[in-house]
Amino acid sequence: MSKPVLISGIQPTGRLHLGNYLGALKNFVELQNSSKYDCYFFVADYHSLTVDFDPETKAQETLDVAKAYLAAGINPKKSLIFSQSDIKGSGDLMWILNVIAPVGEMERMTQYKDKAKSQPANINMGLLNYPLLMAADIFLYNAKFVPVGDDQLQHLELARTLARKFNKRFGQTFIEPQSILTKTPRVMSLDNPEKKMSKSSPNSCLFLDDSPEEIESKIKRAVTDSGSEIKYDRQNKAGVSNLLEIYSELSGKAIPAIEKMCAGKGYGQFKTDLAKVVTDALKPFREVKSKKLNIKSMLDAGAKKAQKIAEKKMGEVKQKIGLLQ
Ligand code: AMP
Ligand code: TRP
Repeated sequence: MSKPVLISGIQPTGRLHLGNYLGALKNFVELQNSSKYDCYFFVADYHSLTVDFDPETKAQETLDVAKAYLAAGINPKKSLIFSQSDIKGSGDLMWILNVIAPVGEMERMTQYKDKAKSQPANINMGLLNYPLLMAADIFLYNAKFVPVGDDQLQHLELARTLARKFNKRFGQTFIEPQSILTKTPRVMSLDNPEKKMSKSSPNSCLFLDDSPEEIESKIKRAVTDSGSEIKYDRQNKAGVSNLLEIYSELSGKAIPAIEKMCAGKGYGQFKTDLAKVVTDALKPFREVKSKKLNIKSMLDAGAKKAQKIAEKKMGEVKQKIGLLQ
């Protein structure tokens, strides 16, 4: 019996951070190791062109995300790893989804509105079409499960709507994809626990390849709340609660056990302990950075396999909509 397909991607837009890891990447590895799915993980380089970028560094950023996949524990013997732009078909399928997606619905996407606001001089069509390319990435491989952070849920909901619409009009073709969230689908910023952690605010963001000194100094500066008790309370102690979640996810200890361990200690000691937990957990990412690995050939091999599946699906789609074969 074949296993259900699971797919996800991360954009090569600079350095990955702890939000990417705890919201997505760590889950990719656990899902891969559960052996319950046929796993595909790709680098979403086409998507990354929708924000201002430097052509000089794009290829390297793509290789770096693939390297981070390996550092996190994704195993090319178990999962298919490839780069999005190596596959012919996602752009074609996106075009087809284009003609069934209502513009009004696309304009309502939160990420589109946020990005349009943050780069007013570059509100390009790719920003608007972004969720259609994402849906194409999912449909092309018949994926049923999609592990992502919660900022991508709206896009997945749109993909489900498009699948239903297409299937109704042209016959059963696409699976309605389901999201898989982690326990921390939204890691918050260190200096503002109301905002999600993001690389746009580098001092309040823990990058996976930060040095131990940087990790310690950023955590020391993290906003804590009034009082001095280390207690999980999302409503009234958002800063400490975010730090407790990070501690728990990276150490494998339950939050009540951490609270107990920290009873009587102040924020200072807690932060020192947390910096150690984070530094230890991120060691593989720092190490892999300086390693010479043949990432390009791994991506080429992954693309070869993924291409076959994509071609088969595109053939089916063209036939369903009556295009000349
Ligand atoms: P991106 O870099 O936008 O391709 O994001 C890669 C993955 O990381 C996606 O699944 C996002 O949902 C997830 N992600 C990004 N930022 C955060 C965050 N602060 N907390 C949790 N997940 C996040
Ligand atoms: N949009 C996703 C993000 O920003 C990346 C992505 C592109 C993706 N295509 C996908 C994730 C398909 C899951 C499935 O994180």
